[in-house]
Amino acid sequence: MEKNILHIKDGGGCTLDVQKFGGMYFPVILGLDVLQNFQSMTIREDDIILSCYPKSGTHWFWEILSQLSAKKAENTRETWKGDLMIESCPQSALDAAPSPRVLNTHVRFDQLPTQIALKACKIVHVVRNPKDVSVSFYNHHRALKDMYNYKGEFKDYFHMFLDGLVDWGSWFDNTISFIKAKEDNPQLPIKFMYYEDMKQDPIARVRELADFIGVEADEELIRDICDKCGFENMKAVALEVGRGLIQDGVPQVFRKGGVGDWRNWFTVAQNEEFDKVYSEKMAGYDLSIKYSI
Ligand code: A3P
Repeated sequence: MEKNILHIKDGGGCTLDVQKFGGMYFPVILGLDVLQNFQSMTIREDDIILSCYPKSGTHWFWEILSQLSAKKAENTRETWKGDLMIESCPQSALDAAPSPRVLNTHVRFDQLPTQIALKACKIVHVVRNPKDVSVSFYNHHRALKDMYNYKGEFKDYFHMFLDGLVDWGSWFDNTISFIKAKEDNPQLPIKFMYYEDMKQDPIARVRELADFIGVEADEELIRDICDKCGFENMKAVALEVGRGLIQDGVPQVFRKGGVGDWRNWFTVAQNEEFDKVYSEKMAGYDLSIKYSI
């Protein structure tokens, strides 16, 4: 079987390279063997599952959870978020990682490895306001030239994002799948966290995460983890160790790390359209999304 490579056209005719597998778009670099097998992978009961739609703070929350579970405020250097990503790492690599593992993923709830629900693993699902996600994802697609070969403008990208014509599909579908999973499976430990809340009050939110994963952490540890996981520090470490989606020598994953950059990109009309689509698609689903803090 060969990779099914597609060139998705934006509104201006520029194309974004992805591969299609199982009805879903993924980056072309993901291995077919992993995509074919990850849903049946072996999961450990003490695995912590970090689920984020792309550009919602996966690297940030992964670092926080990893330091918490290791009870050590020190940026991980040997292992990195990308080394424990469910849909991109071979099972043998994940098997070699010691427990407790913080596995991370961008797939919908219904696409997760089946053992996660069977073993009732703790799941942290991070939500970031989708306007900032769209801007962050646009910059990601533009910056990672070798992966996406995308040269479009934001005005033409905007509908691709709204329509879910990007790798890992629609923000709306992804988010709704986890809201429904929580409603339908009250016995499963699924915790929703918000990027903006972490930005606003990291001490309180890291404490909340420690309680959720059952780690006893004193105030000093919590404070030190917040410091180590600050944007500038994480960016400096990524630069030093050469991680974080390097393109042209720079870790592209650490762009701005703030809340509300969408205001610099959205026109008034785009903002109105986004709000309309949001209220249609998310009707009946209660989320505390913050577009500014
Ligand atoms: P921006 O592009 O808006 O700057 P992911 O890890 O899911 O790919 O998410 C990347 C986004 O999270 C980027 O957003 C990035 O800057 C931001 N981010 C990464 N580390 C962060 C940190 N320590 N604090 C706040 N935001 C962070």
